[in-house]
Amino acid sequence: MQDKQFSISEISQWIDREVSISGWVRHIRLSGSICFIDIRDGTGSVQAVVVENQVSKNTFVNCSRIKIETSLTVTGIVHTEPRAPGGFEIVVSDIVIAHIPEDEYPISKKSHGVDFLIEHRHLWIRSSRQLAILKVRSTLIQLLRSYFHDRGFVLIDTPILTGAIGESTGNLFETQYFDLGTAYLAQTGQLYLEAASSAFKNVFCFGPTFRAEKSKTRRHLTEFWMLEAEMAFCDSNCNMDVQEDMVCWVIEKITEVCKKELLFLGRELEPLKIVKPPFKRVTYEEAIEILRKEGFEIEWGDDIGGDEETVISERFEKPVFIYNYPKKVKAFYMKPNQDDSRTVLCDDLFAPEGYGEIIGGSQRNDDLDSLLRRIEDEGLDRLSYEWYLDIRRYGSVPHSGFGLGLERLLAWICKIKHVREAIPFPRLINRIYP
Ligand code: 4AD
Ligand code: MG
Repeated sequence: MQDKQFSISEISQWIDREVSISGWVRHIRLSGSICFIDIRDGTGSVQAVVVENQVSKNTFVNCSRIKIETSLTVTGIVHTEPRAPGGFEIVVSDIVIAHIPEDEYPISKKSHGVDFLIEHRHLWIRSSRQLAILKVRSTLIQLLRSYFHDRGFVLIDTPILTGAIGESTGNLFETQYFDLGTAYLAQTGQLYLEAASSAFKNVFCFGPTFRAEKSKTRRHLTEFWMLEAEMAFCDSNCNMDVQEDMVCWVIEKITEVCKKELLFLGRELEPLKIVKPPFKRVTYEEAIEILRKEGFEIEWGDDIGGDEETVISERFEKPVFIYNYPKKVKAFYMKPNQDDSRTVLCDDLFAPEGYGEIIGGSQRNDDLDSLLRRIEDEGLDRLSYEWYLDIRRYGSVPHSGFGLGLERLLAWICKIKHVREAIPFPRLINRIYP
């Protein structure tokens, strides 16, 4: 019996039966009267064997025309074969070719520099390593969504074109919006989530966000995906509890569900297995002391930058919260800390193994007058925030939330060096192609 929907990942269920596999050729080797074709179909790869005297003359002649990335369908019987990669092979009876490339495939086995690979990202995503990373990404997104759905959070899709600046004026993408003036690509969905949290209490959004980051670092993209949650009647400690629970849950699940991919990527699972509550909560002030002891010339009041993040996150085996930063290095919407008016009630969660910040969160300023003062101090256009201020005018509540950078989380989970491999088509300061 033949199954048109056959996929290579299910091959072990088809021993001694005939299947047809459609896919692309990763590698081909002709050796006398036998031809070995390594085929991938997105779910796995398998070796197909063509024996000259077991197929039509035409089929065997066709084998000599097949090149890397030829697309085809092979039909044959599945056998166990301990010597074949994966332990199975298909003994071919027929091949139907869809397309044979005219030119040699640009990304062949030999190693290319990352600039070359990223210029060919549309082809690079076919390679085994990239397939594994993007598979983990897909699963991670599914897990994150179910974490929130299963806990009663309501999904709110926040706009990408906005009139209210969400984070800071420094890295905005701007566009002329008909005759209404300047619109910005969203840096965050947070402000809209805050409005929705006064409707549903617990809400989340998950979408692309945009920052014209002038910096070229391994942690920055200009377009990245952020999962944001917002909770009414939740203070800063409650906010950190939710982040901790979510991170532990998602790490536990992904190491189970994607074990095969992570091991293929050479990712040690031990550092992920110890990601269990509680995470240490270190004040900004303590973090500055740690950094000074590490030799950084950093003063109270300075922001904690990329190099500092790396050092702190290498000092802890598990993710660590750094909380209550100085007001002047954080966004206008954060709630002032009543115990120390120089600081705000916020937290950054740093992943271990040198990965640095993966989440930024805070309790929001729920007081109309002091929020208004902050908006004015920052030179933001008050009229664009009237709707946001209404949240404080009608049933204001203590509320908190956070944003998780998907590519940063994925880079840590897969232990990849640069976030550009954690997104299918990265957007960087110097790259818009492909
Ligand atoms: O810390 P950020 O700027 O926080 C916010 O945007 C809040 N409004 C979120 C909220 O409270 N709802 O960004 C959140 C996370 C960071 O911790 C980081 O993981 C990621 O987004 N991120 C980036 N990831 C890739 N490239 C960039 N340029 C990023 N900027 C932030
Ligand atoms: Mg941040």
